[in-house]
Amino acid sequence: MKVAVLRETTPNETRVGLVPDGVKFLKKKEIDVVVEKDAGLAAGFPNSLYEDQGATIAQDAAAAVAGADIVLKVQPVTVEEVGILAKGQVLMSSLQPTLNLEVVKTLRDAGVTTMAMELMPRITRAQSMDILSSQATVAGYKAVLLGANAIGKFLPMLTTAAGTVRPAKTLTLGAGVAGLQVLATFRRLGAVMEAFDVRPAVKEQCESLGAKFLELDVGDMEDEGGYAKELSEDQHEREMEMLAEAVKDTDIVITTAQLPGRTAPSLITKAMVEGMAPGSAIVDLAAETGGNCELTEAGETVEHNGVKILGPVNLAATMPFHASMIFSKNL
Ligand code: NAI
Repeated sequence: MKVAVLRETTPNETRVGLVPDGVKFLKKKEIDVVVEKDAGLAAGFPNSLYEDQGATIAQDAAAAVAGADIVLKVQPVTVEEVGILAKGQVLMSSLQPTLNLEVVKTLRDAGVTTMAMELMPRITRAQSMDILSSQATVAGYKAVLLGANAIGKFLPMLTTAAGTVRPAKTLTLGAGVAGLQVLATFRRLGAVMEAFDVRPAVKEQCESLGAKFLELDVGDMEDEGGYAKELSEDQHEREMEMLAEAVKDTDIVITTAQLPGRTAPSLITKAMVEGMAPGSAIVDLAAETGGNCELTEAGETVEHNGVKILGPVNLAATMPFHASMIFSKNL
């Protein structure tokens, strides 16, 4: 069997679908690996590291996939890229079929079997293959670093000869995979943490990471799949009222609230931002799906009344070494 690894062509995508350790793993199973030239370079894996593990380097994408049984990639292929794939090949990558319908149709017509890795069931048995979880872990960690970098304060409490510094106060909205990693990272940096999620099941998880869980009785908003249900208008209003108070004396707010297949819930209004102290920051991890803050602009940092609102996109690609390592393990 032969596995091909393609170089990413999406702008700013620095990750790679298979790292050299993955080559070693496949070679042990007597599977040949062909890597498109420089596929891993931006992630910190030069061609030589792949060759050391027994992979062959192909000069271009077409040469890499020629005769391959399985093709690995991070981002969805483009319609043009489908042109180099052959009938019967299996493509494993993210796909987002509802957003990339033309690509899906082209793949179907070309007879390529495609595994949209982000559609892996969110169940314990499939967790090791779950790219949403692995990449959300990276995003959560990086969001804390971005937030810490955006404020003019220390995160931990410091007792120095020149006086005592109070720890920064943080609020994390949404305590799924990314949100819990946010809390774990804030904790390592010594920040004071509050958290909220509409799924009461995560209260205990937040508390075990040292966060105070904000109380709001919205009932159990978890669906059968473990995801959040959309709040009713009344529930949403009550959440916003609670948050308006909570954000007031917060230095960093990190929002991760998402609803599967829908735009993200709008949780922080312009008025709430105006109630925050100048110098504080919001990092909106839902920027790509509409944002949890009314002022968020995807891919931009907006400043309003001295409050920075960061709307980072594809954070996993800003930490390509480890993001690729775990993505590669998932594949
Ligand atoms: P997600 O990215 O869809 O959403 C992030 C968080 O936002 C969720 O915790 C959700 O409850 C919360 N949220 C939605 N609306 C909100 C609102 N109005 N206010 C505050 N928070 C709000 O979620 P993610 O991280 O992809 O996880 C989805 C579920 O799948 C979780 O239950 C997670 O524990 C579960 N999961 C289970 C795995 C397993 O193997 N058992 C693996 C990965 C995830």
